Amino acid sequence: MSSQSEWKTSTGFILASAGSAIGLGAMWKFPYMAGIYGGGAFLLLFLLFTIFIGLPLLIMEFTVGKMGRTYTTKIYSKLTGKKWLNIIGWNGNLAVFILFGFYSVIGGWIIIYLGNVILQILSIEEASLTSINFEAIISNPWLTVLGQGIFIFLTMIIVMLGVEKGLEKASKVMMPLLFVFLIIVVIKSLSLDGALDGVRYILQPRLEDISMKGVLFALGQSFFTLSLGTTGMITYASYAPKEMTIKSSAISIVIMNILVSVLAGLAIFPALQSFGYEPQEGPGLLFKVLPLVFSQMGFGNVFYFIFLILFLFAALTSSISLLELNVSNFTKNDNTKRKPIALIASVLVFIISIPATLSFSSLSGITFGAGTIFDNMDFVVSNILMPLGALGTTLVVGQLLDKEALKESFGKDKFKLFAPWYFLIKFIMPAVIILVFVVQLF
Ligand code: TRP
Repeated sequence: MSSQSEWKTSTGFILASAGSAIGLGAMWKFPYMAGIYGGGAFLLLFLLFTIFIGLPLLIMEFTVGKMGRTYTTKIYSKLTGKKWLNIIGWNGNLAVFILFGFYSVIGGWIIIYLGNVILQILSIEEASLTSINFEAIISNPWLTVLGQGIFIFLTMIIVMLGVEKGLEKASKVMMPLLFVFLIIVVIKSLSLDGALDGVRYILQPRLEDISMKGVLFALGQSFFTLSLGTTGMITYASYAPKEMTIKSSAISIVIMNILVSVLAGLAIFPALQSFGYEPQEGPGLLFKVLPLVFSQMGFGNVFYFIFLILFLFAALTSSISLLELNVSNFTKNDNTKRKPIALIASVLVFIISIPATLSFSSLSGITFGAGTIFDNMDFVVSNILMPLGALGTTLVVGQLLDKEALKESFGKDKFKLFAPWYFLIKFIMPAVIILVFVVQLF
C-alpha cells in the first residue's frame, strides 16, 4: 500500500485484513494439525485459544495500528518514544519473512495441482483426479521449486504493481465463492460411506487426546490464522479509516477464520475415513483428500479447477501482505523504492524457501527439533516469533501506553468491554504467553 489512510470505508478495511488473515492457515494448516493432535480435542483447544486469547490480542493489534498510523518498524517508537522497542516490529518482519519462505511451498503445490488439472481438462494428460500422486509431485525437487518460484513471482508482481486494491475488490466475489465451494465439498464429503466417523473425529472432543504438544500447537495455530504477533494486523489497522470499528472488525475476522477452519475440517475428515487415509497424514492432507472428493462429482475436474483458483487467490491475498510488510518496512512508505525492494525481498524469500521445499524430497532426511526444515521454520514462526511479538506488544500496550488514549482508540464501548479487555492485556496475556514459553522449553 502506498500511503497511510488508504481504506476509505470500514468494509474495505475488513475485506483487506480478512483477505490477509484467511489463507492457508485455516484451510491447509488447521486440518492437518487437527489430524495429528487429536481431531475434536484440537478443535476445542483451538476455539478456546482463538476466542479467549486470539480475539483480545487481535483487538490489541488493531488498537495499536489505529493509534500509531505508520509502518511497524517505527510504530513502537512513535507511540512510546523509545527507539529500541521497534525491535518488536523487526521481530514481526523476520517472522513474516520466514513465514513467506514456507508459505510459498504450499502456494507452489497449489500451482502444480492447477497445472495438473488444466492438463486433465484439456485431455492432454490421460489421467483423472484419482491418479494425482501427491508423493510423486512433492518428491520432485525441480517441479516443486518451480511451483513455489511461480507463487513468489506472482506475489512479487502484484506487490510491485501496487494493484492490491484491485484484489481487495475481487475478494468481495472470490471469498464468498470460496465459502460456497467449501460448503459444496463438505456436503459431498458428508455423503460418502463412513462419513460419520470423520464427523465424530473432528467434532467430538476426546479429552484423553489432549497432549501438551497439542495445546502448544493449538495456540500456535490460533496465532497463525489470526496473523498475531507478526504486526500484519497492526499494519492494516494503521491504514484504516478513523471511524473503523475495531471490535466488530476483529470479531468478524475471528468468526470467518473459525468458520473456514471448521468447514475445512468437515470437508476433509469424513472423506478421509471413507478413502482409508490416516488423520496423521501431515502437510499433504488437503492435497491428498480433496481431489478424491471432487472425483466423486460430475465434472469433478472442472469444479476442482475452480476450487484451486479460489484457494490460490486466498493464499495470494495472504502472501501479498507478507511481502508487503517487508517492503513497507524497508521503503518506509517511499514508493520510488518499491520495485527494487520488492524484487530483493522476493529473491531472498525464494532462496530460503528452497530448503523448505526440499524438506519434502532430497532434504527429507534432515530432521531436528520440530521435525524437517519445513517443520522447524513453521515452529520458529508460529510458536516462537509470533508469541514473542504478541508478548512485546502486550507489554507496550499494558505498561507504556496511556490508558485514556487506548480507550479512545478502542472506540465506542456500548458493552463496557474496555475495562476487562485492558485487564486481560495488562495482566493476564503476558503471563499466559510467558507460561507457554516456559512450558515449551521443557
Ligand atoms: N494468517 C495467515 C493465514 O492463515 C498467515 C499469516 C500469519 C499472515 N501472519 C501473517 C498473513 C501476516 C499475512 C500477514 O494464512
